[in-house]
Amino acid sequence: MYELYPYFTNDGSVGLFSPEADDIYHSTYGALTEAYEKFIIPAEFEKFFQKNNKIKILDICFGIGYNTKSFINNFLEFIYNGTIDTYNIKCNSEIDTDNKKYSIYIHAIDTDKILSGLSPFFATNKNNLKNDKIIFSQGKIKKMLSGKTKVFYKLKKETNIILLNLIKNSIDAETEKILFSKKYSQFFDRSIIDLYTFYKSQDGNYTLLKCLSTFLHNIYYKYISSSYKNALKAFKMADFNFDLEINDARLAIINDEKKYNYIFLDAFTPSKCPCLWTIDFFKQLYHHLDDNGMILTYSNSAVVRNAFLNSGFHVGKIFSESLNKFTGTVAVKNKSLIKNELSEYDLGLMKTKAGIFYRDENLNDLNEAIIERHQKEVENSNLISSSKFIKEYKLSTK
Ligand SMILES: C[S@@+](CC[C@H](N)C(=O)[O-])C[C@H]1O[C@@H](n2cnc3c(N)ncnc32)[C@H](O)[C@@H]1O
Repeated sequence: MYELYPYFTNDGSVGLFSPEADDIYHSTYGALTEAYEKFIIPAEFEKFFQKNNKIKILDICFGIGYNTKSFINNFLEFIYNGTIDTYNIKCNSEIDTDNKKYSIYIHAIDTDKILSGLSPFFATNKNNLKNDKIIFSQGKIKKMLSGKTKVFYKLKKETNIILLNLIKNSIDAETEKILFSKKYSQFFDRSIIDLYTFYKSQDGNYTLLKCLSTFLHNIYYKYISSSYKNALKAFKMADFNFDLEINDARLAIINDEKKYNYIFLDAFTPSKCPCLWTIDFFKQLYHHLDDNGMILTYSNSAVVRNAFLNSGFHVGKIFSESLNKFTGTVAVKNKSLIKNELSEYDLGLMKTKAGIFYRDENLNDLNEAIIERHQKEVENSNLISSSKFIKEYKLSTK
């Protein structure tokens, strides 16, 4: 049986716990907030769109799609705020596909078809939720959720509508069973489900734009004002192309020939899912990154940073202003894109046993085999331990 353990995170967006991986998919301080803080804000898309009108994004470990959704949402925000140039788009003109200004291509990869299919339906804007919404008794998660309550980001409805249209082919009987199950109903956005039901009853015979207008007319007509016009404008301004691949990311990348402007790497933690953090996988990513592109990840660990460095990348840190701490790592080919350099301490840590990276030469080993090989390499290594390094470093800087 497919097990799903949703809970509301502290920003009102839904997070998931995987009993199989014995790990959470999303940070309890806010699934959506995390996507913004670790991927969207540091990517500085605003600057990118000042110089480019075509973007290619690789979303590794799509899950329920927070990173892709947040990107689409961010793009809509630019349009709503007039941040990006709209001068040649006439709001009421018919869509002219040859004349669209922005081209957005997202290649998303995940092994879990059910989750990916459910992605647009998850509620992401229930404000000020208390932590008593957890519907399962995982004491561990409860403890994690007892942190400070903060509400950060909300998704615009149109974001999920865009995603629903892009993703609709992956919804099958099993995902529908979950979608319409009472057990999970509080975690899904009813209005998006209504749209899906309507869409299905029409045999999918609706274009993206028609679908959006139907939704807005049928459900939100009384509230329609500038947001409706702005949403329509977004569709006229951009070609959205979304390629959802249900596959092991290693296989997907070997068979891919594209280069990306941004790569989001959101795999489970390295000690649990090392296959997506190896030097060999990163070398593949190197070939798929544009010369001015950027890989972003939430991991701060020495093992990840050292693997990036040894794959040919320049490596830097992500600093979150609102959280006032370093929240991840960037890997780039163009060094000038790094805003926060690794410190002497970070570099030192990478030269200890903690920096010994995972290997997966043929890109097809099981995680268990990769972990075992890594453990042996660490045991046989003459490098100093990270704890010894930290002790010595503290003494030397006193
Ligand atoms: C931390 S979650 C990602 C959360 C996601 N970014 C989101 O917004 O919901 C990790 C994801 O990695 C996927 N995964 C695990 N091993 C994988 C592999 N070898 N290739 C691709 N995806 C994998 C899991 O199915 C899971 O959805």
